Amino acid sequence: MCGIVGYLGNSKNPKDVIISGLKKLEYRGYDSAGIAVMNEGKTKRVRASGKLKALEDKLLTEKIDGNVGIGHTRWATHGAPTERNAHPHQVRGISLVHNGIIENYVEIREALLADGATITSDTDSELVAHLIANEIDSTKDLYKAVEKTLCKIRGAFSIVVMWEQNPNQLVAFKDGPPLVVGLGSEENFVASDVQALLQYTRKFIYLDDREIVLLNGQDVSIFSANGYPLQKKAVELNWDPQMVEKQGYAHFMLKEIYEQPRAVAAAMEPHVNTEKFSVRLKNVGFGSLVNKLEDLDPAQDWIKTQEVLKGIDRIFIIACGTSSYAGMVGKYLIENIAHVPVEVDIASEFRYRNPVIPPKSLVMTISQSGETADTLAAIRLAKEKGATTLSICNVRNSTIDREAHGHLYMNSGPEIGVASTKAFTSTLTVLNCLAVAIGRIRDVISDKQEKEFVQALLSAPSQMEVVLAYDKYFDQAAHTLKQFRGFLYLGRGVSFPIAMEGALKLKELAYMHAEGYAAGEMKHGPLALIDERMAIVMLAPSDELYEKSISNLEEARARGGQVIAIGTGDNDKLKAISKYYLSLPKAHWTINPLLEAIPLQLMSYHLASSLGYDVDQPRNLAKSVTVE
Ligand code: M6R
Repeated sequence: MCGIVGYLGNSKNPKDVIISGLKKLEYRGYDSAGIAVMNEGKTKRVRASGKLKALEDKLLTEKIDGNVGIGHTRWATHGAPTERNAHPHQVRGISLVHNGIIENYVEIREALLADGATITSDTDSELVAHLIANEIDSTKDLYKAVEKTLCKIRGAFSIVVMWEQNPNQLVAFKDGPPLVVGLGSEENFVASDVQALLQYTRKFIYLDDREIVLLNGQDVSIFSANGYPLQKKAVELNWDPQMVEKQGYAHFMLKEIYEQPRAVAAAMEPHVNTEKFSVRLKNVGFGSLVNKLEDLDPAQDWIKTQEVLKGIDRIFIIACGTSSYAGMVGKYLIENIAHVPVEVDIASEFRYRNPVIPPKSLVMTISQSGETADTLAAIRLAKEKGATTLSICNVRNSTIDREAHGHLYMNSGPEIGVASTKAFTSTLTVLNCLAVAIGRIRDVISDKQEKEFVQALLSAPSQMEVVLAYDKYFDQAAHTLKQFRGFLYLGRGVSFPIAMEGALKLKELAYMHAEGYAAGEMKHGPLALIDERMAIVMLAPSDELYEKSISNLEEARARGGQVIAIGTGDNDKLKAISKYYLSLPKAHWTINPLLEAIPLQLMSYHLASSLGYDVDQPRNLAKSVTVE
């Protein structure tokens, strides 16, 4: 979950490329950072604990230039977030940055210590630098030394290494966490994510697991772990670097909350016919390579997609965190609209519980980053068990996207804030499209019903715009709301997962105790938690479960709970029984979750800000969880 950047070339100072790249990667980890730059075979390293800013401050007084360099922003796994544990690690002229975990590090450490090695950090990463340095003593070749080291380490890791004796080379290896090569003119780059390099290039080679890259002068060569040269195609991206800037917002999270109407429109755009009000999933590409999706014949692709979706008799949705709550909404949508049974599972459980996946199952994963380690393991397991897989990702060409049989995209644009917002509502949009498509393909819904669902979906962006007005409301209310001891988020039906998502947002941003519950479950235990210092956030849209929600709300209120109700329109009843009432536009039941998510995001954002917390980079977390 760390971020890595490497640069080799003569036209820029590696320091500038690395620092600007690390800034874009800070979402991956931010507890220490470091840089090493080589100039005529001499390496200068600067490291600092804390956020990247601490490293930048140190660099103000350091002269550091050259033609090759590596940098790292860390999310600690082995060893505290101190300067001595910060990367790059250095051993006898080798400098190395590492993202991931070395599982056999205890044995390696003991063997190195027995051999008399001087180990200067508590990390597993430094041990890899020792192993490479040992190999280089005999091979005198960085690439060969890396290749020989790979069979000695186990785990999931990406590394980038340079060596003083070979000042025109960088060697990188990936097995697990993502790594891309950026191709420039007379210069090349490596990084954990394309966002780090968009400012310099749009041309990328995505590395697959167990591939080694050798940047040698201006040449880029890629090999399999056992030394076979590989021919890999570069992909040209059309992302705009502006998309990864704050553009005047105080935080990326706030910008991303505001981007939701546009993101939701972009998520449905490929699939929805706005004249016929129908859905036709575009370029799902079952069985096709992701970088060939644009070349697909849409008619043929749709025939294949229909064939697959007709042939299934159940769906498993597998994901983590916010993506899993989106999956839970997907269950309500697909079961209600398309009548296909759906099971939702958390990836870290699914992968280890030896799941029964009957034939004719579709296993669908949801992942913004497309790199979440548990979700990736889950899709691999599902494939091993013979299932057809479909991924919903935001990051195209991410590992999960590449490994799935079929592909759908959130189309949210880069999401930088660690707390997921626009990717969540975009996923709900894609799931709406999928549910309607399956419903039609299987003749469960009529043309008329399809039209009704699509019209509802098309109205979502403008309705979301209206709900964004709660930004100002929570800016002020946050000062009062932060007095509460805890928050219970309650919802029924399709609003239940939104209650879970609301609670997660509050925990991760404001570090306050919050729980999401199915409102009907309150009387089975959680009611005991309620007193006047407990806020009850009740999602009670005017749907068929509204009356039941009101009863649950009364039960909570009778025990002293302070109610924040979110309902539809100018609802006098809800106004009367709640301390705070937030009205949402009247919407179709399928769209309510998209609208409900926004005030909950804004509430967490403002509570965290008013408590003085860093909303874009909450403590202990990282955006892309590439370790299990
Ligand atoms: O990239 P993914 O969607 O696979 O990430 C899954 C979770 O780590 C993520 O949703 C996490 O829960 C967010 N920080 C929540 O805001």
